[in-house]
Amino acid sequence: MSSVFKTKPVETLIAETQGKQGLKKALSAFDLTLLGIGALIGTGIFVLTGTAAAEHSGPGLMLSFILSGLACLFASLCYSEFASVVPVAGSAYTYSYAALGEVWAWIIGWDLILEYTVSLAAVSIGWSGYAVSILDSLGIHLPQAITASPGAGGVINLPAIVIVAFVAWLLISGVEQTSRFNGIIVFIKLAVIALFIVLAVWHVKPANWHPFMPFGFSGVVGGAAVVFFAYLGFDAVSTAAEETKNPQKDLPKGIMFSLLIVTVLYVGVSAILTGVVKYTQLDVPAPVAFALQQIGINWGSALVSVGAICGITSVILVIMYGQTRIFFAMARDGLIPKSFGKVSDRHKTPVGSTVIVGIVVMILAGFLPIGIVAELANIGTLFAFIIVSIGIWVLRVRKPNLERPFKTPLVPLVPILAVLSCGYLIIHLQWETLLRFVVWFLIGMIVYFTYSRHHSALTSESATEKSS
Ligand code: ALA
Repeated sequence: MSSVFKTKPVETLIAETQGKQGLKKALSAFDLTLLGIGALIGTGIFVLTGTAAAEHSGPGLMLSFILSGLACLFASLCYSEFASVVPVAGSAYTYSYAALGEVWAWIIGWDLILEYTVSLAAVSIGWSGYAVSILDSLGIHLPQAITASPGAGGVINLPAIVIVAFVAWLLISGVEQTSRFNGIIVFIKLAVIALFIVLAVWHVKPANWHPFMPFGFSGVVGGAAVVFFAYLGFDAVSTAAEETKNPQKDLPKGIMFSLLIVTVLYVGVSAILTGVVKYTQLDVPAPVAFALQQIGINWGSALVSVGAICGITSVILVIMYGQTRIFFAMARDGLIPKSFGKVSDRHKTPVGSTVIVGIVVMILAGFLPIGIVAELANIGTLFAFIIVSIGIWVLRVRKPNLERPFKTPLVPLVPILAVLSCGYLIIHLQWETLLRFVVWFLIGMIVYFTYSRHHSALTSESATEKSS
């Protein structure tokens, strides 16, 4: 039984990344910041803000963004230390392997599969909704049978499938192309958000901010648990560790910069949004574009929609990228079949896992309605944040002398604050979400004890050591 709690030494983890099967090192701190912004700004700000304001937070939406942002700030400080100590592709999965032991690594890896796959499906369906409405406004009307899943009154959601296939193809073609494409998109979406702020700020009516918390403070926290989705993805930066030129310094920078930039933008956009339009009217699928329409700036509204589509594309790109890199690390450790970790000689990218992730997400996005998937993604992420934060504290106690290029300040206070704030958001999610999460967790334990444990590279290494 003790083998399931065996940790993988940090030195071994790093040594494994030096082999010739490695990924290509091409990214800088600037690229990583763009990657972070690429993963962050998307459905959360362009779609979910409306529902969160109308049903939970009211004008207190800005406070909801600050609360979620704080939980992410604490967690990101812990991620940054880990990323600097263990710059390895698996992110939270690898960190747990180093600090807490194999079974915890597996639980987190399994949890991240849920988080990434489910959010990819949700975001692709959101992309499809925006694409269809833009085509509509151009006079191109696609039949509902091919633009919606069976649960949503159609047969298949083809635009969602097409965007997933396109992104998978881009990822296979190489990390530099991916990063360049992402850079252009990030620029477009930042420009669109700046445009919204500049156009709308003059139309803010402070009267719209009263009452500030129509559903009380608990409404604001409920809203925070929903808009947390907007922060999902900064952890994907740390999955780029093995493709970063100077990971120890650049990963913490990429994580912190991208998080700080988007937090300021989110708070600004939500303040203006609820100042321009009464929160009760915001329950629409495209609230940011809607607000500009309300003040009569239709061209601005159209531009925002195009920017949103671009923005959501880069979210799909970065999250799918993160998912394949986590598979890559898990396959290298033997916990999932080796085929997930094979890197193509030509492109130096993990082609097999990209294709598998692409196909699974296409099936989910093509045939399921959005429904509750965003909440499931949130709980998966919050859980990973909690484990990573505990891991930082544990590693400080177990290995006090490790070289730590970036140190989380005020340990254990910051990890404890991360655990408390993420836990607080979890209990504000719906109980059905918690139940689904537990079921996924149990399936994971069955897979671990029937397959992964017996194929673990770490277990076979120690067995070889004992017999020799
Ligand atoms: N943070 C990402 C988004 O809001 C997942 O779309």
